[in-house]
Amino acid sequence: MAFNPNVAALPPYNAGMNIAVARSISGRDDIARLASNENPDGCSPAVLAALASPPLEPWRYADPACAALRAALGRKLSVEPDTIVAGNGSEDLIAAVSRAMLVPAASVVTVVPSFGLHEIEPLAQGAVVTKVAITDDLGFDIAALEQAIAAGPRVVFLSSPWNPVGPALDRASLERLIAAVRPGTLFVLDEAYFEFRDDFCPDGLEVLRTSDIAFVVLRTFSKAYGLAGLRVGYAICSDAELARVVAAAKTPFNVNAAAQAAAIAALGDEAWMQASVARLRGERARIGAGLEELGFQVASSQTNFLFFDCGGDSAALASTLLQEGIIVKAWREKGYENCLRVTIGAPTDNDRLIGALARIARQ
Ligand SMILES: Cc1ncc(COP(=O)(O)O)c(C=O)c1O
Repeated sequence: MAFNPNVAALPPYNAGMNIAVARSISGRDDIARLASNENPDGCSPAVLAALASPPLEPWRYADPACAALRAALGRKLSVEPDTIVAGNGSEDLIAAVSRAMLVPAASVVTVVPSFGLHEIEPLAQGAVVTKVAITDDLGFDIAALEQAIAAGPRVVFLSSPWNPVGPALDRASLERLIAAVRPGTLFVLDEAYFEFRDDFCPDGLEVLRTSDIAFVVLRTFSKAYGLAGLRVGYAICSDAELARVVAAAKTPFNVNAAAQAAAIAALGDEAWMQASVARLRGERARIGAGLEELGFQVASSQTNFLFFDCGGDSAALASTLLQEGIIVKAWREKGYENCLRVTIGAPTDNDRLIGALARIARQ
């Protein structure tokens, strides 16, 4: 069979383990799911009420333009709805941006370790991806990024806060990177973990709006709002023409009716989201300190996960933890195979993780 060679050669996406598989491997029912950065608090009751309410008509096609959702986002963010594109999760929009912007051999800059799709989707379009490495103290290498961006790639994909490592760009660093962007480069700032950041980290959208570069800011309902299973994300574009072309690159009915209703309901209950984020940030500090007490070098985190060097093959440690019913994510990118990423879960699950790591360390 003659496949598209770019697609046939794609590296696999390192997705979290399915709970049924984890149950059968560990022989336990009480699985601690600490691999996929989901919200252990669930979602707002307003979302569940919206999903149960009569206007939801599964037999009708959903609004392909997501007009009501984009209007609600426009009001919240003070941006024109015609600069917003909704996606079947923000990963859908990483694909749409790649399709909209990239032709074979176009260049893309991202980081390593990276969120897999920032590399996979450009590669699917035949692009050439340059990855700028992390610093020794597990941070962004701003000087190296500045240089790579100044070389004029077609697209820059950066997540801040950064998956899988955790830190966020501070305002001065973000402004330095923006200043390095040349005409013809699209700067994509993926803020999937935006809501978890501390106050010192800038709102990337606010900073980018005062610049004159072409940009896309990506955000999602999957993390802080707890809607990972419904799949809703959005792109805020620097101008309506960019949004039009990104929207043209997506499939027409990409966000289903339940997802649109749920996202609108979630936006109507920001208090639930903020309370959940506050709790998870507290847990993040507690578990980070616990990991450091066990002797791990833990990256600073502005997200709902922690990333650390476990001092040996992280896949072996992940499989030992799995025997105890704990799913974590062993990083597999070359050079980072000793790194583990753990989601901040419910306090009991977090305690199980720390307890298990302490036991393993004593063996
Ligand atoms: C940096 C980053 N971007 C995008 C996504 C995709 O999120 P979703 O498609 O659920 O909106 C994720 C998910 O883990 C992520 O970590």
